[in-house]
Amino acid sequence: MNNKRTRIYEGKAKILYEGPEPGTVVVHFKDDATAFNAEKKAVIEGKGVLNQRISEYLFTKINEMGLPTHFIRSLNMREQLVREVEIIPLEVVVRNVAAGSISKRLGIEEGKPLPRSIIELYYKNDKLGDPMVTEEHVTAFGWATPQEMDDIVHMSVRINDFLSGLFLGIGIRLVDFKLEFGRYYENDMMRVVLADEISPDNCRLWDMKTNDKLDKDRFRRDMGGLVEAYQEVAKRLGIIQQGEIVERSLKLVKND
Ligand code: TMP
Ligand code: ASP
Repeated sequence: MNNKRTRIYEGKAKILYEGPEPGTVVVHFKDDATAFNAEKKAVIEGKGVLNQRISEYLFTKINEMGLPTHFIRSLNMREQLVREVEIIPLEVVVRNVAAGSISKRLGIEEGKPLPRSIIELYYKNDKLGDPMVTEEHVTAFGWATPQEMDDIVHMSVRINDFLSGLFLGIGIRLVDFKLEFGRYYENDMMRVVLADEISPDNCRLWDMKTNDKLDKDRFRRDMGGLVEAYQEVAKRLGIIQQGEIVERSLKLVKND
């Protein structure tokens, strides 16, 4: 790794470096796991690589659908080259099945399918603990314009339909997930593009047959087996081979 490059920002799970050309950024996926606004922390060996590869796969497909994203290409197992964007300070959560905070807040049993998909907005601000907001707040405070919100909602719905079908095909229920968007400036044009990552860190993925959790709830709820679960997702998507899994298990045995 080139240590001389300039670090732009370090987040909870990723580090951003200046890219090789103007207007590009290198995203480095760390093995760090956090939950509950970083009150709970751990390093889980292998998580960064799995998230990078799963996110690469999904962003490539979303690009192929014709939806604009920040993703350009993977550089290595842990790093991606992406377009520099101005992040819109929103966490856009799409839910198909009740789980997590909606179950707690509204008293809906986990696992209950929602009458229709629901989009929720959270103001991305760690100090405030990412409070839930409405579109009224978003446009009144100027975090995004009404036109940008139209694009965000439209893209989120399309991404939900696409990902739900994709995961259904490999026996996984897409319960919910979180997206982030950014503004990409190209010459005099600005457009809203999908940014951040889509991985088991920011989705809830349940096995269709067993309801086994194949996502970060394994860490949030102290269930163990996070890397194995993420590997299962990668394996079903066809992006890691049986051999790679064996290799890692052997390494784990050696290290333990
Ligand atoms: P929630 O049920 O805790 O609100 O989470 C909904 C979805 O959003 C779930 O798939 C996990 C994801 N998520 C994030 O990616 N980052 C976060 O900070 C939170 C709270 C949730
Ligand atoms: N990523 C968030 C945090 O650290 C929360 C979560 O995903 O549960 O703190």
